Amino acid sequence: MELKRLIGVALALIAMPVLAVAGNDHNLDGKKLYESNCASCHGMDGTASAFGKALQPFPARNHRAMAKLVSGDEMRRIITYGINGTAMTPKKYDLDGLQIEAVIDYIKTFDYTPNLANGKERFVAICASCHGVDGRAQTGMGAKNLVYSKLSLEEVTHTMRYGRPGAKMTSKRHQMSNEDIADVANYVYGLRYKADVAKGGKLFAENCVACHKTAADIKFTGNAANTLSIADMSDRLLDLRIRHGRHVDRAGQHVAKLPADDIQDIIAHMRHSTK
Ligand code: HEC
Ligand code: HEC
Ligand code: HEC
Repeated sequence: MELKRLIGVALALIAMPVLAVAGNDHNLDGKKLYESNCASCHGMDGTASAFGKALQPFPARNHRAMAKLVSGDEMRRIITYGINGTAMTPKKYDLDGLQIEAVIDYIKTFDYTPNLANGKERFVAICASCHGVDGRAQTGMGAKNLVYSKLSLEEVTHTMRYGRPGAKMTSKRHQMSNEDIADVANYVYGLRYKADVAKGGKLFAENCVACHKTAADIKFTGNAANTLSIADMSDRLLDLRIRHGRHVDRAGQHVAKLPADDIQDIIAHMRHSTK
């Protein structure tokens, strides 16, 4: 036992200087690694080189426009394993794990100012047929209302890049440049309805307190009756329960006919007052 421990300590002492030496020429300078491994295609400044832009079947993509919109996890996967059938080969043979992190950190320093006018134009051209010009998706195509979406900017971008399997929402990664994706994602994010808690409180007082003294007094019907609280339900579910089904029989048609934005405000009040 004692001997084993001694050998262990001795081995560790021998290994230490070796690791230290290896550490010296272990390049962790993300900028240098990027310039020697990536810039030939993606460009020194991240906007793709002439060589990169001419690649087949797909050109190298602009890192500046995606740097802040794509998660480190996704970049790590692409850089490590590459993208099959493209010039983006796996880099795990050229860079080790720490070096890949250093490159990602460097790419994340790139910045890009979205062009919202272009975002709007591209949105109307490519997305409005399903999502509606106003983003509220009243087109009958089964698309989601982007104005009430809860997705983060990163998640909006991810949905655009990869689509939704099984839905008409297809991947736009090879249909749109990264600049257009960034412009549209920011434009869509900017369409977001910002619910007004105070107005919701007023609307609740006018339309609901007659039967529900406070939001906390609301009893849900069906399977949800004893188990679910307001916090457990998405806005979409609450909207459905307020505007459809048994509740409308009790509360009256005028509740069902409240404007959609008013219901969003009421829901915001319900959440706020039961927090
Ligand atoms: C030989 C050219 C080439 C080199 C070198 C190269 N890439 Fe790529 N890269 C590409 C191409 C081409 C694509 C686009 C593939 C596609 O559209 O499916 C791509 C795509 C990517 C993507 C996805 C971008 C997006 O917006 O979807 C990332 C991230 C990426 N590369 C990172 C790197 C990093 C980091 C390096 C260096 C360690 C590197 N690449 C080196 C050609 C290259
Ligand atoms: C052919 C119809 C169609 C087009 C065109 C289309 N979408 Fe969609 N989109 C859908 C459908 C359907 C869904 C709902 C998918 C689901 O149920 O998960 C969706 C969902 C989304 C979502 C997820 C919203 C959420 O809250 O879950 C985003 C974001 C989105 N689309 C953005 C876009 C953008 C941006 C464009 C244009 C570049 C676009 N879509 C073009 C049909 C479309
Ligand atoms: C005229 C009375 C009345 C008014 C006004 C009223 N409700 Fe209700 N509501 C009910 C009754 C009755 C139920 C059934 C559950 C119960 O007994 O509390 C109910 C149930 C609900 C439920 C649960 C529905 C379900 O399917 O689980 C929600 C959510 C709700 N009300 C929200 C509201 C909101 C928001 C307003 C105002 C916009 C409102 N109610 C106005 C009578 C009313």
